[in-house]
Amino acid sequence: MATERTFSIIKPDATRRNLTGAVTKMLEDGGLRVVASKRIHMTREQAEGFYGVHRERPFFNDLCTFMTSGPVVVQVLEGENAVARNREIMGATNPENADEGTIRKVHAESIEANSVHGSDSLENAKIEIDYFFKPEEIVG
Ligand code: PPS
Repeated sequence: MATERTFSIIKPDATRRNLTGAVTKMLEDGGLRVVASKRIHMTREQAEGFYGVHRERPFFNDLCTFMTSGPVVVQVLEGENAVARNREIMGATNPENADEGTIRKVHAESIEANSVHGSDSLENAKIEIDYFFKPEEIVG
C-alpha cells in the first residue's frame, strides 16, 4: 500500500457547530495524520476557482455561497491510500446515502451542508493541496 496525501476541507456547517475537533478525530481514528491545517474564510474568488470544474452545474452558485458563508478548515491528510481512505471515512456526498459511522452520516445536514470535502483522486489531491498550501506549510 502506498502512503499518499489528500486534501480535506471542514466546511462552514461543521465549523459553525464547533465540530472541527470531532471531525478531525474521526479522520485521525480512521488512520489519517493531519500534516497541515489552517482555518480560513474563503473568498468568493477562491471558492469559484476551487470548484471551477462544477461551474456549469445548477448548484455552482449555491455551493460557492455556502463555502464562503463562514470559516473553513483546510487540511492535508497523510496515510496509506489516503485519498480512498478519506472518502470512506467521509461517506457519500448526500448524507442520506452515507454509511453508518461516516462523518457525513453522523454530522452532515444536507447535500450542500455536508460537513467535509475530500479529493476524489491523487491527481486532484495534488492540485487542491497546491491551491491552498505552500510546501513549507506541510510538515510530515
Ligand atoms: S460529482 O462530480 O458528481 O462527483 O459531484 P458531487 O460529488 O455530487 O458534488 C460536487 C460538490 O458539489 C456539492 N453539491 C452540491 N452543493 C449544493 N447543492 C447541491 N444540490 C449539490 N450537489 C452536490 C457536493 O457537496 C460536492 O462538494 P465537495 O466539496 O466537492 O464535496
